[in-house]
Amino acid sequence: MRADPPGLNRRALLAAPLILAPSSLAACERFASAEVAPGPDAPPLKSLADFPIGATGMTGQLDDPVWVAAMRRDVDQITPEWELKPERILQPGFAYDFSASDRMVDWGHEQGLRVFGHTLVWYSQGLDQFTDALPTARFAAEFDRYVSTVAGRYRGRMVGWDVVNEAVAEDGDGLRDCVYARKLGPEAYIVRAFEQARAADPDAVLFLNDYNLENNPRKGATFLRLVERLLAQGAPIGGIGTQSHLDIEIPAGQIRDFFRDAASLGLPIHVSELDFPMQRDGGRAPDLRSTADRRAQQVARVGELAEAFMALPARQRFAFTTWGLRDSDSWLVREEGKNRPNESALLLDGEGRPNPAFQAVAGAFGR
Ligand code: G3I
Repeated sequence: MRADPPGLNRRALLAAPLILAPSSLAACERFASAEVAPGPDAPPLKSLADFPIGATGMTGQLDDPVWVAAMRRDVDQITPEWELKPERILQPGFAYDFSASDRMVDWGHEQGLRVFGHTLVWYSQGLDQFTDALPTARFAAEFDRYVSTVAGRYRGRMVGWDVVNEAVAEDGDGLRDCVYARKLGPEAYIVRAFEQARAADPDAVLFLNDYNLENNPRKGATFLRLVERLLAQGAPIGGIGTQSHLDIEIPAGQIRDFFRDAASLGLPIHVSELDFPMQRDGGRAPDLRSTADRRAQQVARVGELAEAFMALPARQRFAFTTWGLRDSDSWLVREEGKNRPNESALLLDGEGRPNPAFQAVAGAFGR
């Protein structure tokens, strides 16, 4: 087990009085200075809320009894981390391989979990088949066939789908250039994907999903304006997904402001991929923060997010999903992610015990 970083005292944290109903950011900031204590086993994550708590899972975890037990204890919903993506399903010659996706969807239902589909169309995937050189008529036909076949295969078994993922430009200035936009139109491909998904599965809630919406207010605003335009074009968007891979160094209030603006669309909101890395991405100034300072920043921002989610009308709280259940399950520690073995960016540590941010979420959720 990875030892707690020096200076962390979990016992003091869990012994600290719960902030039961803070309505101000000051409450979160106040909590941020608390220490951390190993303390007793935390209550199951899913007992903290009357809306679904989700986490990701992968076929490689299904034979791990410790992970299976933790998922059964802590969550109501699973998002297959990669098995429902074009990178795994779409094969050469526009063939499909559903072996991994079927296993994940079947497993989720065997455990009595809601299964959330991620993702039908993503700018960065399917590019070996969906190329600029493909005649547009064939491109369109294969695009429609892919979305309708995948969504149709799991008709009635998915609570929702990220129909299109990460359509907004990285810096929030307009939409992302991608082969789907170039071949079918910058917004038309999105409308098309939603229409195909709706026809294939009338019951799944259909989401537009993106990241850095809280971290970058410009991107958040562009995303919300895009949703409004797509709805005006008749796209059957049923919800918005904010990935919430939080930059814990952003100013207080940005998260609250995004959720306030997002709520005004009246759609269900899915916190779809929450994590909150302690370690900075490369390219920034040398990181002189202490572990305690980073933990305090995590607690403050995650507490703000949880409070903002709780401030939504109940009908707009679709689900609260972390991208991995325990620190050891995070893409951040894996090679294809950030390859940071000591990262601690989730509510539970590698042993399934509460990290400091757990208490902030529990407090915001009123438990
Ligand atoms: O498990 C297989 C292994 O059997 C195989 O040998 C190996 C080499 O092909 O691949 C392994 O699968 C990898 C998988 O992660 C599981 O580790 C895939 O190659 C790799 O592409 C996949 O990366 C995922 C990535 O999205 C791309 O799909 C990450 O797990 C996943 O955490 C990440 O998630 C994204 C969201 O979809 C969108 N938002 C950002 C988020 C983080 O980047």
